[in-house]
Formats: sequence, structure tokens, C-alpha cells
Amino acid sequence: MSDFKLGVLISGNGSNLQAIIDKFKDDDFIEISCVISNKENAYGLERASKENIDNFFVDHSHYDSRKDFELHLIDILERYNVDLIILAGFMRILSEYFVEKYEGKLINIHPSLLPKHKGLNTHEKVLKEKDKLHGVTVHFVDSSLDGGPICAQSSFEVGTKDVANLEEKVHQLEHEIYPRVIEEIAKGKLYLSNGKVIKE
Ligand code: GRF
Repeated sequence: MSDFKLGVLISGNGSNLQAIIDKFKDDDFIEISCVISNKENAYGLERASKENIDNFFVDHSHYDSRKDFELHLIDILERYNVDLIILAGFMRILSEYFVEKYEGKLINIHPSLLPKHKGLNTHEKVLKEKDKLHGVTVHFVDSSLDGGPICAQSSFEVGTKDVANLEEKVHQLEHEIYPRVIEEIAKGKLYLSNGKVIKE
């Protein structure tokens, strides 16, 4: 069986990228083929370089349109024959064109228990609404913002008023759940069928 290839899109620190690198470093089936950032100084690019993973900075501001930018991303992803695209802190909205092209092959991790708290500043929103539970969601991406079919969620009791503390707990959960879901998809145990997530 040929390798299952991941393309990871980032914009920043890349702690989720690191968790995925660590999990699949010695895997003989799943491999990270390429990492792409739309931010030049994203620390995740350094993490990729340290592991000898091909990585690219694609500056979205150099393109006339979102589609031109995405065509460049697609060019790289196709060059590497990527099987699954992982959004790991990628801070650009993707067009319907891109999302539909990769339906079922494009996943995102979001720092809240979706459908609660879409968008940014989720920890602050959790505190403001006095939520009892907080957590993370991995979902297939569709053209709604943070709204695609859910692959998996993981939660914890809030029990603090400190944003930094919530962020730390969320990251811990993210670093467990994201590699786990990626492995399930790679092994065909989790997939999208007619817009619904199937788990075997
Ligand atoms: C994570 O909290 C993820 O849920 C969100 O962006 C953050 C990325 O963190 N989409 P990192 O760059 O992986 O450290």
C-alpha cells in the first residue's frame, strides 16, 4: 500500500503541526509531505524544516484574488499528491471552489465545542457566557465558517477564569485528538459520505 500523504496548512506557531509530526514520525504509512504557511515568520515553518519536511511560504497578499492564491496552494498540494489537507491554525478563509474541490479531504481543528463559539476568541466567549464545559472540535471543512460535519470532540470542565489556563488545556486536547482523527481517516475508519461523518 502506498503512503497516505498529509499536506498541512498553517499561519503561526504550529503546535498542532508538531503533535502531528511527533505522532507520525516513524509511521510507515502516514507521512507529512508538505507544510504551507501564508505567513513568512510562522514558527511552524521552522518546525517543518527541523524535521526535513518540505515547506513553503505562500504570501496571500501577492495574489490579485483569493482564487489565484488558492491555485498556487493547489499546485503545491497536487505536486505532493496529498491525500488529506490538514488546517492547523491556518488563518485564511478558503473559497467555495477550494472547499468543494477537497470535500471529504479537508479537515480543521477549532478551539471550542462547535457549534458553540465559531470564529475567534473562543476562550473569552466561554468565560463570558459562563459555560460549564469547553473543548475542541475536529471537523470536515465546508463553505460555512467553522460549520462542517464533526469528526470528533473532546471536552473538559472550565473551572477557571483564566484565559491562558483554558488555552493550555485546549492545546493539550488538540494535540491528542487531531493526530487520532487523522489516523482514523487515513485508515478508512472515519470518512465523509453524502455530507455525513461515518465511523466504523
Ligand atoms: C489552535 O488552537 C487551533 O484550534 C486553531 O488555531 C490554533 C493553532 O495553534 N485553529 P497552533 O499554531 O497549532 O499552535
